Amino acid sequence: MTKSTEARLIKTALKALKNSYSRHSGFKVGSALLSKAGKIYPGTNVEFDAFSLTVCAERSALFGAITHGARKFPAIAVATSSEEFVYPCGLCRQALVEFNPNMEVILINSKNKVKKIILKDIIPNYFKL
Ligand code: THU
Repeated sequence: MTKSTEARLIKTALKALKNSYSRHSGFKVGSALLSKAGKIYPGTNVEFDAFSLTVCAERSALFGAITHGARKFPAIAVATSSEEFVYPCGLCRQALVEFNPNMEVILINSKNKVKKIILKDIIPNYFKL
């Protein structure tokens, strides 16, 4: 990934973070999923009064990307309102890994510090049908 694509990805995740609909937890998450074609799909977390309906920012982005026909994803950026780096939850790890175990995951904390990992490293022995 070029530096400018990475910068666009981070910028998009930070913009999506602002749209977080998280009135129950107050925990904001924004994501930006990069397709192989170079398009960027944003996502944010959406919480409901019926708590279990909550959808994470990562799967929000994935659903939007899939809806637009994208299928290959080299990278995702995930920004949160936390000073600690926050890793995708187990559900999102599984959802993303099914598309690309080698996906680059770019974590951004509340101070705009960046940490990069590879998805399969945080979900070893993931489920495959
Ligand atoms: N959340 C995400 O959006 N992504 C994650 O990987 C972990 C958790 C959201 C869900 C919920 O709205 C809030 O963070 C607190 O759990």
